[in-house]
Amino acid sequence: MKLLLNVLKRIHKPAVYSSQPRCRSSSARSGLLPLRDEALIVGSNPELVQRLGPQVEVRTGFITEEEEGAFMQELELGLKKKRYEFDHWDGAIHGYRETERVMWGERCEEVLSRVRSGAFPEGSPLLGPVHILDLDKTGYIKPHIDSVKFCGSTIAGLSLLSDSIMRLMKEDDAEEWLDLLLPRFSLYILRDQARYNFTHQILKDEESVFNGQRVPRLRRISVICRNLPS
Ligand code: OGA
Ligand code: MN
Repeated sequence: MKLLLNVLKRIHKPAVYSSQPRCRSSSARSGLLPLRDEALIVGSNPELVQRLGPQVEVRTGFITEEEEGAFMQELELGLKKKRYEFDHWDGAIHGYRETERVMWGERCEEVLSRVRSGAFPEGSPLLGPVHILDLDKTGYIKPHIDSVKFCGSTIAGLSLLSDSIMRLMKEDDAEEWLDLLLPRFSLYILRDQARYNFTHQILKDEESVFNGQRVPRLRRISVICRNLPS
């Protein structure tokens, strides 16, 4: 158990960026993605949204409130035994506690197999344990790229308890960015370039504004599935 947690800790590479993207006038925020859930993805420019769009998905209402409840029932007791960690100034995550789990009850397993079959290429071997990240209301995730040593091409995450904003920024060009609105109950999927060449972060409550609209960030739990590097 301890070992697995250590591996998860090493999933996070140090943040690549500390600065926020510049050039965020409303005209620059015109990159709506037309053919998908367009309200959920905006970017620095339409070309980027078009290009990266196929590698980024947000599926709203992927789970029901009852299914969220099933996850909470399985997870809350174990999480409550841990304390939120705030003191790792150099870490990728601030104000969080985490765990991972291999065996799930029937309701959760049902949801997870929906995630697996919907998000990952067929036959792609998955990281055994599912990663659970509990962000305090004041918690946030700094820009990082998941370790290519431990994780493969695809990252899929369920959002429980709160809406949030995930920001992707091109590793070598902070002016290329995409904001994803991740509503409570949704599933997001990052693939390929979006996963390898863009950092991702979850904005803190004070900065949680999507396309000009404030999105309050409460305590948020994510349930994340990953595949193995090939
Ligand atoms: C991570 C991460 C995103 C999320 O743990 O590496 O980026 O949705 N999590 O919690
Ligand atoms: Mn990550």
